[in-house]
Amino acid sequence: MKHIGLDIDNMLPFAGKEALAALQKDLYYHYQVLINKTGRGNNFLGWMELPVNSDPALADSIEQDMRYLKDRVEVVVVAGIGGSYLGARAVIEALTNPFSSYCNKKEHPVILYAGHHLSESYMARLLEFLQSRSYALVVISKSGTTTEPAIAFRLLKKQLEAKHGKAGARERIIAITDKSRGALKSLADTEDYKTYVIPDDVGGRFSVLSPVGLLPIALAGINIRELLEGAAAQYAICHASAEFGENPAALYAACRNLLYRMGKPVEVLVNYEPSLFYMGEWWKQLFGESEGKMQRGIFPATVNFTTDLHSMGQYLQDGLRILFETVLSVAETPARVSLEEEPSNLDGLNFLAGTSLTRINHMAETGTLLAHVDGGVPVMRITIPELNAFHIGELLYFFEFACALSAYILEVNPFDQPGVEAYKANMFALLGKPGYENEAAAIRKRLNW
Ligand code: PA5
Repeated sequence: MKHIGLDIDNMLPFAGKEALAALQKDLYYHYQVLINKTGRGNNFLGWMELPVNSDPALADSIEQDMRYLKDRVEVVVVAGIGGSYLGARAVIEALTNPFSSYCNKKEHPVILYAGHHLSESYMARLLEFLQSRSYALVVISKSGTTTEPAIAFRLLKKQLEAKHGKAGARERIIAITDKSRGALKSLADTEDYKTYVIPDDVGGRFSVLSPVGLLPIALAGINIRELLEGAAAQYAICHASAEFGENPAALYAACRNLLYRMGKPVEVLVNYEPSLFYMGEWWKQLFGESEGKMQRGIFPATVNFTTDLHSMGQYLQDGLRILFETVLSVAETPARVSLEEEPSNLDGLNFLAGTSLTRINHMAETGTLLAHVDGGVPVMRITIPELNAFHIGELLYFFEFACALSAYILEVNPFDQPGVEAYKANMFALLGKPGYENEAAAIRKRLNW
């Protein structure tokens, strides 16, 4: 059985074997804290066992919903933000054909997203698009009070009820939320919606392997059992040993902290597959929201190659030397599209005759890696044997485990996010939400309104 792995050959010359070995003791300590659940935020460690303790009835119920909706609707709109959005989208985009929404005959509904921003033009166009289509709604919010998905859900629900009546809409709405708290829970109970529970001890950005991710992923036609199997395989690896040679996630957590301590506070996650764009978005949230606190943390950035080699390539090669790269390196696939020899060779590409696009992409990856290393950028590679549900499941767990461990090494609580409240208080004050009168008065004074 192949697994995802970590190659640090092009990072080690920058950090040195001795420095890495010296970190092993520190790492081992934090690893024990994580595994034994004795660290900061340890009431939010439920994600750790999701791949191995998942109730079989959950997958059955999700697959039943999938079969029910597949025959009834063309579109499923998933309303959620942050951890209640990005994980599902990352997996769906990684594993589905981006052109399938343009095909006439679809096996599964097209998944669209709402509630992940406040754009009126997006919502107006979405409502217009949905008007003439059959659709279902999945609304996801652990707190049940997040403004963006709540607004989107109110608007979409109204349209769905206008089309099908309350009873018809009820058959097309599923809520995923807390077991007892929050406005969404009361709303779902009052309206008698089908509901999935987000476990108390699973925080938003660590919830992709709970119903939060599994339901939308299954609705898109992806095999969630294979995804969970992959995550369980990575669970076994992560929990068996803290040794660098045996635990790539622990090694990754250690290496990124070593580079951070060496004055490299920016990590750039690189992909060479457009389908991994949202994996990068999910990864940014996972690490950014977990580590960026107490004036600490590695800043997570992403680039999409080779596209961004024509925009960000210059900076990466030659700009401020504050960054390191982690490349999502997908193994070469059997050739499906190759270039052929042309007699005229007007475009000068005959030297590539007989070469597949996957090979050309890999040579771009290797060439770029060598150039960036020469330019002073340490590079790690996460090797992915194939883009399938099993290895994506592995990757999700690999990053979650590495993130928790890395945050512990940084000595921050990976599972809280006190900083995200600041903007909300100002926004609510500006919008006149009851209870924010004092903040509103202070803002008016500050802005001379
Ligand atoms: O990781 C987190 O906790 C956040 O990103 C949340 O997922 C996000 O704010 C959405 O919260 P909720 O699910 O409560 O609507």
